Amino acid sequence: MFDTLPGFREFPPDACARRNHLFRVFRTIARTFDFQEYDVPVLEPLDLYLEKSGEEIANQLFHFEDKGGRKVALRPELTPTLARMVAARANSLPKPVKWFNIGEHFRYERPQKGRGRSFYQFNADLIGEVGIDADAELIALLCSIFETFGLGNKEVVVRLSDRVTWVLFLAKLGISEEARPATLDAIDKSERRKPEQTIESLESTNPDRGKELFEKIQEIKGLNSLEEIIKRLEECGEKGTERAQHWQGLIDRLEAHGCEPMIKVDLSIVRGLAYYTGFVYEAFEATGQGRALAGGGRYDHLIKKLSGNCDLPAAGFAIGDMTLSDCLESNNLLPRYITATDLFLVFEETERDLGVRLSNRLRKAGYSTTYSLKSSGFGKQFKDAGKSGARYAIILGEEEVKNAQAKVKDLRSGTEEKCKITSIVEMIEHWDGEGGISQ
Ligand code: HAM
Repeated sequence: MFDTLPGFREFPPDACARRNHLFRVFRTIARTFDFQEYDVPVLEPLDLYLEKSGEEIANQLFHFEDKGGRKVALRPELTPTLARMVAARANSLPKPVKWFNIGEHFRYERPQKGRGRSFYQFNADLIGEVGIDADAELIALLCSIFETFGLGNKEVVVRLSDRVTWVLFLAKLGISEEARPATLDAIDKSERRKPEQTIESLESTNPDRGKELFEKIQEIKGLNSLEEIIKRLEECGEKGTERAQHWQGLIDRLEAHGCEPMIKVDLSIVRGLAYYTGFVYEAFEATGQGRALAGGGRYDHLIKKLSGNCDLPAAGFAIGDMTLSDCLESNNLLPRYITATDLFLVFEETERDLGVRLSNRLRKAGYSTTYSLKSSGFGKQFKDAGKSGARYAIILGEEEVKNAQAKVKDLRSGTEEKCKITSIVEMIEHWDGEGGISQ
């Protein structure tokens, strides 16, 4: 026997139905925000991620050399591919580009609750728009998806932060431009590390300042209201004042979108991916338990870095299916899908051809129809019909067939009625609509 690889999941029909429920909501809500669906390959050149995603993801890649000697990787995320794709079509695409994708991704992480090595993401990105209205639109889409699943601000929180604000604060702390990316990385990881480890990382990029910076950064991470952040930004000169206005604008717009109650200003979010340049956010269960449900932000320079000449601002986010399913399950919000057939045909073996012809007609009329594939008595067929969960059994007995008729039996109420075989679709349609035999 071969087992599935660690961190990979199988989806038997009930799990697949649950997964499809997530996908259906993603698609429906993305369309209401006028995002269009696109798709891309799962296998990409390794360098795409080594250069663009940052160290953390590069360490988690599934990669190998193909038979042509190319170094390739299974996609751990979608953003670099999207950036490349848009850059290649930049001149012909109407702006802003509002695209979404639902697809499988692969990261060699330690499998644990909410984290696998293969998982699905819903990605939504808005490209070609630099202003906060684009960030607001994306955050509103994220919140709207949560709300459609039945998750409100009691269940979910979107923690909103800003890399520009962090850069201004780090500059004020005298941290050199070269040391900033590594310092931001240490801040990002500090949530999951012991203080000594963070101090050590800070020390290595900012010699002799590890402990002092750690304390100052802790204090900044503790700024958790718009007022406090704006006040501190106004101490950072003209750029700080300008950024304070962006913060205020974004929060005002989120209020207009009606999703402000789900938002929590929280500078402890920095985001691990290297390409983010502006407002960033992660969604979590309001209890604070579990890994992130979603994450995203602005990445204004990635497209230029990938294409060399095409300078398009961009922002987006991704929701993962694993943590979201766990969250819906623990809040009792995963509907139980019934994937039963509509109709079960019961017939004498001598009438098999007639049965198959009839099932063909019923299927063409849109009814899910099934019947026993091997010869069996009426008793066994009725038992199977019951087990199948079908709503109606259609019986082609000797008596009925002689008169070109069939018997339709409602398997819930037990009521039954005869009708002409030629008018069986109309009969079921009528019955279906009325919820019982018309008298
Ligand atoms: P990310 O934060 O790396 O962002 O991933 C987004 C979401 O994908 C996470 O919040 C989580 O729900 C899910 N996820 C990530 N890794 C795993 C895993 N190993 N197992 C299960 N779920 C996982 C990005 O990927 C960015 N590319 C998002 C983005 C789109 N930014 C701009 N546009």
